[in-house]
Amino acid sequence: MSRAKVYVTRRIPQPALDLIRPVADLSMWDREDVPPPREVILREARQVDGLLTLLTDRIDGQVMEAAPRLKVVSNFAVGFDNIDIPAATSRGIVVTNTPEVLTDTVADFAFCLILAAARRLVEADGYTRAGKWKTWEPLLLAGQDVHGATLGLIGLGRIGSAVARRAKGFEMRVIYYDPYRRQDLETSLGIEYRPFTDVLRDADVLSVHVPLSEQTRHLIGREQFGMMKKTAVFVNTSRGPVVDQRALADALASRRIFAAGIDVFEQEPIPADDPLLRLDNAVVAPHIASASVPTRIRMATLAAENLVAVLQGRRPPNPVNPEVLKT
Ligand code: DGY
Repeated sequence: MSRAKVYVTRRIPQPALDLIRPVADLSMWDREDVPPPREVILREARQVDGLLTLLTDRIDGQVMEAAPRLKVVSNFAVGFDNIDIPAATSRGIVVTNTPEVLTDTVADFAFCLILAAARRLVEADGYTRAGKWKTWEPLLLAGQDVHGATLGLIGLGRIGSAVARRAKGFEMRVIYYDPYRRQDLETSLGIEYRPFTDVLRDADVLSVHVPLSEQTRHLIGREQFGMMKKTAVFVNTSRGPVVDQRALADALASRRIFAAGIDVFEQEPIPADDPLLRLDNAVVAPHIASASVPTRIRMATLAAENLVAVLQGRRPPNPVNPEVLKT
């Protein structure tokens, strides 16, 4: 039997490559800073049994059609909205992701954005460096308190609940909306379920933790920003298109809400002329919520483990479409 072939769509940490090499011939897009162009993915897919992809690669029916041997698409991310799952399932291709290993790192970063936006940290840093600091002033760069505030979570999956746990350390009241009510977590974390609009209205800090789907696209738009408190701090570490970014920029510019901390955008990278980038009450980051060195290594190795398991005919740790597995 010939050895399996794998294409890895970006340079990834060595421990992950070390797991793949004994099992498959590996070729890799040898850059870290830009994704492979579409035509490269289409060309490489033709001869491989496995693809290890990033969230920047669109793996749709066209790619799968070009890849007659493809058995597995292992995504180096917990989110998998870049992959057409029904197209994979209908062809018997296993799709896997990397949940759990990034939960606490992303929750740390959500909290980092909450604190930075509420307390105007980035603005304060710029102000100090620019030599604008003349004296101690009673309301200089005054922000909103995080401790004791009400945190509203939209989505109470793994990451949402990890943010809730952190919030308890800040003595916050935590309310949440999720289509799946979690009474077990309500009891264990001391949090309250509320209808969606109540969470929008009552939260001092709102943090979004839902996957991107047709149901969640533009879940937060003009109408929803209109319901929030004028002092609200809004944070998104999920996926950009969950939020209507133009409506967010307008809400911030008009001071309809107080501030935002945003790690994900409708278009990534965000264009340099996007209105959001001109606002001093927006703290922005380039989709790095899971970017700690240990976590990115764990994500890479888990993606490799998933890939290798399928190639060896074993059940992978994290199938997204388990119905295609025979074991
Ligand atoms: C994911 O894994 O889906 C994040 O967005 C990147 O860590």
